Amino acid sequence: MRTHNLAVIGGDGIGPDVTAAALAAMRAAADRFGFTLSTTDFDLGAASYHRTGVALDDSAVEQLRGHDAILLGAIGDPSVAPGILERGVVLALRVALAQSVNVRPVRLYPGVQSPVRGITPQRCDMVILRENTEGLYAGGGALVHEGTANALALQQSVTTASATRSIVEVAFRLAAARRGRLALCHKSNVLTYAGRLWDEVVEEVGAEYPDVTRDYVHVDAMCQHLPLSPERFDVVVTDNLFGDIISDLGATVQGGLGLAASANLNPTGSAPSMFEPVHGSAPDIAGKGWANPAAAVLSGALCLAALGERDAALACEAAAASVVAELPALSGAAMGASTAEIGERIAARVATADPATIGDPA
Ligand code: NAD
Ligand code: IPM
Ligand code: MN
Repeated sequence: MRTHNLAVIGGDGIGPDVTAAALAAMRAAADRFGFTLSTTDFDLGAASYHRTGVALDDSAVEQLRGHDAILLGAIGDPSVAPGILERGVVLALRVALAQSVNVRPVRLYPGVQSPVRGITPQRCDMVILRENTEGLYAGGGALVHEGTANALALQQSVTTASATRSIVEVAFRLAAARRGRLALCHKSNVLTYAGRLWDEVVEEVGAEYPDVTRDYVHVDAMCQHLPLSPERFDVVVTDNLFGDIISDLGATVQGGLGLAASANLNPTGSAPSMFEPVHGSAPDIAGKGWANPAAAVLSGALCLAALGERDAALACEAAAASVVAELPALSGAAMGASTAEIGERIAARVATADPATIGDPA
């Protein structure tokens, strides 16, 4: 029987609860479609940081590297200064494992109510491709004269032609396989150097894809167009920070952060890819059972698809979509069921969900 070796990082806050739901659905899919998931838990996040004083050591990275894929819940906790865990674990892994392409589908499932009036499933089905290793996330910086009237903070941004080209190529390939439309989202009217490089790369790669229609949208305008006219977008390619921001906006349009999945892909296969919900550890609701686990289950579906388990991926996606469509609300106590209960419902439905009802994974 086929076996996939998964590394599992539950992490902080709601992370372990939603990850348990994702694993239950993935295991149900493995039983149904005849493969095995072997899992190794990695204790990373606030508790391990408090115990060891280290966010992530080299040996953990090397052990993670030995797996077929990584499933991540969320990292970050109010007891640790901002950035230490987020940069030290999440960003460190994306860079160390060369996960340069972040795939964030924005799809409104049938029966799910978008908070934006008038948005229907037919109008909302796009994929945001976020460059995952560069931009303002990668540059150095400094804070000098801290605490004085002369304080000065510098935070540099890095954009290379090679990383930009690599995600833009993925974007054109995906657009050609979908509805044939690619939008570049940037801020080239102000960030003229990086913007010019993105423009040039899109121009150059686009020449090989004459059938893909190109669009350009400044990131500020995107914040209006994405919620009001999501049908304008098929594939959106963007830089790291803009992608971070507009994917939370996309999540809102599709029903909330509890429904938004993501894949951090290593496009060459030189190291494992990592699958995680778009949301964070949600300390405001941690421990209450108020988190919607669908985003984690849908991230698990992206993981199965990347492992070549297409039917299993579609069954998980269809099961999560149909269970959330029945909830009276998409987060909090108003869901009328706890994170664990919703996870059980989704896992049970994986056994019978029809993979053909949902359409191909992003
Ligand atoms: P967040 O995404 O954790 O939460 C934002 C809001 O959405 C909160 O009100 C939360 O309750 C709600 N929410 C999030 N996930 C939900 C779910 N599944 N169901 C229902 N409601 C949900 O963002 P934040 O509050 O800005 O960040 C909290 C911590 O998480 C910070 O430490 C941040 O750095 C970290 N973070 C980690 C990741 C990651 O590990 N990939 C991603 C984003 C944020
Ligand atoms: C995300 C998160 C991360 C990011 C943080 C936790 C570093 O917000 O995955 O969207 O900014 O990429
Ligand atoms: Mn984010």
